[in-house]
Amino acid sequence: MKTPIIAPSLLSANFLEIGKDVDMINNSEADWLHLDVMDGRFVPNISFGFPVISAVTKVCKKVNDVHLMIEEPEKYAEAFAKAGANVLTVHIEACRHLHRNIQQIKTLGMKAGVALNPHTSVSQLENIIADIDLVLVMSVNPGFGGQHFIERTYEKIRQAKALIDASGSKALIEVDGGVTMDNCKAIVEAGADVLVAGNTVFSAGNPADMIRALKHGA
Ligand code: DX5
Ligand code: ZN
Repeated sequence: MKTPIIAPSLLSANFLEIGKDVDMINNSEADWLHLDVMDGRFVPNISFGFPVISAVTKVCKKVNDVHLMIEEPEKYAEAFAKAGANVLTVHIEACRHLHRNIQQIKTLGMKAGVALNPHTSVSQLENIIADIDLVLVMSVNPGFGGQHFIERTYEKIRQAKALIDASGSKALIEVDGGVTMDNCKAIVEAGADVLVAGNTVFSAGNPADMIRALKHGA
């Protein structure tokens, strides 16, 4: 079984001591840092924006993986590039001109990801899969950490894997929401390359140990 990329989600960090949590991630076996941006319109929650992301990316030694849960992401792609995003993922449900949005992200020098809400079919990616670097399969409804993994996601991961293989795309599959020690192995077996984990990591007694356990337990 392949070793997955682990992307702890900053959403569950202690925001009063955010630097300590970034240090912990820097010194852990995490590969990426997942940064969840919410606008109160695309999702019913508001998280954090440019001041926090710029401060974090200056000290973060991992890949800065920014997940935009916002309307009109094209308005802000350049600002996210300047804030230090390495991977920028937009929701297919928020993009009227997805192809143009993906080109914009790549032109700005970032890797481009497309996220699918739980109700969105993988087949919607058919005409964009060759152009993207990442498929983010939401395994909860976006907006909040600490929710339960939706079981139907396993089938969507398998479908995404089949689409990627059939198209010759090199896109990675990232799974986001409700990832735990109980399901991480099955998620990777279904075809996931990247596991996002917020609550599982930051509610652990030793978050760095939990990152290692997710990486090698999967
Ligand atoms: C949810 C976010 C997730 C969230 C995952 O809208 O996209 O990245 O932080 O949190 P857990 O791992 O707690 O489900
Ligand atoms: Zn996320």
